[in-house]
Order: sequence, then C-alpha cells, then structure tokens
Amino acid sequence: MFRTLEWTDAGVVLLDQRKLPTQEIYSVFRTYREVATAIKDMVVRGAPAIGVTAAMGVALGARGIDSTDAAEFERQFLSICDVLAATRPTAVNLFWAIERMKKVFYENFKSRDLDLVKKALQIEATRMHQEDIDSNRRMGHFGASLIPERAKVLTHCNAGALATAGYGTALGVIRAAKEQGKSPVVFADETRPFLQGARLTAWELKKDNIPVTLITDSMAGHFMKARKVDCVIVGADRIAANGDVANKIGTYSVAVLAKENSIPFYVAAPISTLDMNIPSGDHIPIEQRSPQEVTHIQETPIAPEGIEVANPAFDVTPNRYVTAIITEQGIAESPYLESLRRLKEQSSQMPHS
Ligand code: MRU
Repeated sequence: MFRTLEWTDAGVVLLDQRKLPTQEIYSVFRTYREVATAIKDMVVRGAPAIGVTAAMGVALGARGIDSTDAAEFERQFLSICDVLAATRPTAVNLFWAIERMKKVFYENFKSRDLDLVKKALQIEATRMHQEDIDSNRRMGHFGASLIPERAKVLTHCNAGALATAGYGTALGVIRAAKEQGKSPVVFADETRPFLQGARLTAWELKKDNIPVTLITDSMAGHFMKARKVDCVIVGADRIAANGDVANKIGTYSVAVLAKENSIPFYVAAPISTLDMNIPSGDHIPIEQRSPQEVTHIQETPIAPEGIEVANPAFDVTPNRYVTAIITEQGIAESPYLESLRRLKEQSSQMPHS
C-alpha cells in the first residue's frame, strides 16, 4: 500500500496527488511554509489528510524556531498556526488539528522547556497520523454492515487512503466490506473540475483490486434510474450539528438523484469532521478556487480565453438527503442533532480526542 503522508526527520513526505495517476512522486516538504503551500496547491488534499499534514506542519515549524525566549517562541508558534490555518477554509479537520496542536503546546509550554514543547508537538502530530488510520478502520467496520453482498456503490471525489492518513473513509467502508467477504463494485464519478474521481479514486481502487467503473458526473442519474446503483457513499469536509454535509462540489446533485431514485446516501467521516459549533450547513465557508481548474485540463485550455468562471470547490447537502452518517464511534441517523451529539460526547470520553 502506498503512503499518502509521512513524518520524517527531513520533513513531511507527501505523495504528490497533482501528478497521479501518471506519476507516483514523493516529495519532502522541509518547512511549515512549504507544507502550507502543498496543502493550498493540493499536493495533499482530503479533509483528514489536510488535518494531519497541517499538524505535522505545525510540529515542523515549531522545531525550526531558533528563539530561546519563551514569549517570542509563543509568538512565532501562533504565527505558524495562522499560516497553516489560512490554506483551505472548508475542511474543518484543518482547524481541529491546529487547535489540538495548540492545546499540546500550552500544556507543555507551562514548563518553559522549549525542547520539550517541540518534542511534544512532534509526538502529537505522529499520534494523529496513526489515530486517523485506526479511526478509518473502525469506521469501515461500522459502515460495512450497511453494504449489501454484491453492492454496486457510487462514490464522488476521493475519500480514500489518499484523502486520509490511510485506508480512507468512504473507500474505507468499501475496503472493509471486501475484507468481510463481500464483493462490492464501485462507480467512480470523475469529479470535475479537479478530477479526484478519475485520477485518484480510480487509481487507488485499481491498485487494491476493487472493481471500479469510471463515469462522468453527468452519468450518475442515468445509472441510478437504470437500477445499477445500490447505494452512494461519500466523505465530508465539514458536517454541521444538524447533519448538513459539505463535500466536494457535485455531491449535492448526487444526493438529490439518490433520493429521487430511493437509493441510500451515506456519508463516512471521522468525528473530527463534525463542527458542532455551527447549527446548519448555511454557516460552512465554501472555498472558491482558481478559474484555471475549470478552463483547463492539466495545462490544456478547454474554454475561450478570458471567459467568466465560477469555481466553488464544495457544496452543502441538506440533512434530509442523508440516510446515515458513518463515524468511528458508530452510525448516526436522523434526527442528527441528537445522534451526532451523542457520538461526539462518546468520542470526547476517549483519550486524545
Ligand atoms: O478539494 P479536495 O480534494 O480536498 O476535496 C476532498 C473531498 O471533498 C473529500 O470528499 C472529503 O475531504 C473527504 S476525504 C476523506
């Protein structure tokens, strides 16, 4: 199995997802600023992967602070956190991870032993990496119970090992179903404009010998109506307290089509993707990305030069379209306000949450 991201003494090693599927290139990002740029430019992407990478960026940044003056050290640490927090606005895992690093910082900062602080931050970042893989496996175990024997599963974007520290959320559920002896087959939406489905999900599933059929986004309704899809599973970038789900642009259309065709629509996401501070999806900031992602495929222009473009990277699916939300703490169903709160509380009683 490939590694999406890894902490090394030289820096954060990332599999460059912009180059997949044609090239498998690992690069080392040696400073927190390099890590921030890698997140912004989508060398690494997917909410949980962004969170863990940012935590490693914080640890890397703190390690590089020369000052031995505690106040100056704190000032520089907070500025490192700000730089990493400014990379991508929608995935709440980014902010969750940075808050967790700040908590560890202040727990250890009391000692005024700055080497101890640096070490503690590095340990926390690598712990988050392992925890993410473990929680995906638990999520997979819960979610697999929802997958029929020879299920035809449609997914959008990439919520796989590439989008996490490993194993994946939505694709983790599919992997777990296979490990339980089921034979799921997957329809992968290509996911315009950045093509995470065509480039990443198709690559990842093919590598894992899980049968996958690539379709364009516009084909999903056709296959649903023809009864070729048994369920939909997607990941999430942020889930509001009421169960509204922000995910890759196009997810909302898939959810509406699923409801129209009486097909269950599942969301798989870790507790770190829950944002219980916002009452509904209306409060989720939607990232607007470069027009170039729409007007070009890789370097090739496909639209008239200078054309007006809109490129919201995410949309919000209202909770009424969501059949269930699969987490590492169990499965939540409507009414989500209560079910998500319960799972969140359960998780906060676990160590390191
Ligand atoms: O813009 P991206 O590629 O970071 O968007 C990723 C998604 O929308 C994923 O579905 C989501 O982050 C869940 S990843 C487990």
